[in-house]
Amino acid sequence: MTTDELLARHRAVMPSWMPLYYAEPIEIVAGSGRRVTDAQGRSYLDFFGGVLTNMLGYDIAEVNEAVRRQLSTGVVHTSTLYLIRQQVELAEKIAALSGISDARVFFTNSGTEANEAALLVATNHRRSNQILAVRNSYHGRSYAAMGITGHRSWSASSLNPLQVSWLHSADRLRGLLSRLDPDEYVDAAVDDLREVLATQTSGDVACLIAEPIQGVGGFVAPPDGLFGAFKKVLDESGILLISDEVQTGWGRTGEHFWGYQAHGVTPDLLTFAKGIGNGFALAGVVGRAEVLNEVHAVSFSTFGGNPISTAAGNAVLDYLLEHDLQANAARVGAILLAGLRELADRHAIVGAVRGRGLMLGVEFVRPGTTEPDPAATARVFEECRRGGLLVGKGGLYGNVLRMGPPLTLTEEEAREALGILTEAVATAAA
Ligand SMILES: Cc1ncc(COP(=O)(O)O)c(C=O)c1O
Repeated sequence: MTTDELLARHRAVMPSWMPLYYAEPIEIVAGSGRRVTDAQGRSYLDFFGGVLTNMLGYDIAEVNEAVRRQLSTGVVHTSTLYLIRQQVELAEKIAALSGISDARVFFTNSGTEANEAALLVATNHRRSNQILAVRNSYHGRSYAAMGITGHRSWSASSLNPLQVSWLHSADRLRGLLSRLDPDEYVDAAVDDLREVLATQTSGDVACLIAEPIQGVGGFVAPPDGLFGAFKKVLDESGILLISDEVQTGWGRTGEHFWGYQAHGVTPDLLTFAKGIGNGFALAGVVGRAEVLNEVHAVSFSTFGGNPISTAAGNAVLDYLLEHDLQANAARVGAILLAGLRELADRHAIVGAVRGRGLMLGVEFVRPGTTEPDPAATARVFEECRRGGLLVGKGGLYGNVLRMGPPLTLTEEEAREALGILTEAVATAAA
């Protein structure tokens, strides 16, 4: 079957709202390290990693071995009604790494479910369904997760079990607070938080949920320290802080293991997903025991943290720590960032370059303005593919290229990608 035939069959049987990348979509049939091969035998350097999920890259022997070992027991699944050794081990490691004291961990299959679980315990603990969320956020695809998603393209329904009030995003190019320097921004955002609490809530809000760097939103990050400044205000009324670390966790940002650590604060709850399974469905929430235990009915996840996914998760986490991939993300990310900044100096269609570690975004605008240019972004995107580099797209206006390569990325691969990207931007700008 050709890729064209597969595409026709895909379109005939899959829902229309599930997007495929590229004018000519790709079927990935093999992968090794940071490279994948499509059905035509073309090779690509993968800088999106299945949306920041293939955190170690492809075909990692240690992870394969751990999964095979579990398969060889004959047990793929037991349900959480029985003790699962590797689930307990992984929970212990994540609890210790979380920075949250007396932590409990609940495993789920996706980031959406992790956020649902965090919202469940936060709203129960506070006996309130009032939530603070951030504009331009993305938190998943359930009703509650969509309800706290501040991004029109990803808000597929207005049905919402929560009462949500919105804080400003930290977009530096557009919006009310965009022209402020970082200190002024923090002061203005804190004033705004106080005003929102005073005008849009009854005070007894359950929680604020925020991504340390907005992923789908185009890698928009607030100034360091903002969450800490917010927390001082939240603490006055006992409002909890949830850090959605689905994209920012596990050292991807280089300087920190968790995105929240840039903010001088420890959240009450932290959600994780994507990278920890390196492709196996594994996600969850960590929180203080007094909050995470706040469910007074039976609640469980049939597949959450099953023997296969947690066998993979333990192997992924051990590999990550043994190879100090956080340090690699910082080192190789700095090379990429410097190269991208040069690109911004040379081409007026590059409106901004931002990010941390191996989470980097390039925003495209009409030259001399801050007007988003999704068409130029699409041209660069297709040119990158032609040159052998897979990247992602995002941002409120679809004008941000997103790069979240595996944390095992080498310096040579970073330079190779910069070469492809440089040509792609030059072609798109011509
Ligand atoms: C920050 C963030 N939270 C939650 C989710 C939802 O995760 P999932 O797609 O695994 O449900 C995503 C997915 O992209 C995300 O980026």
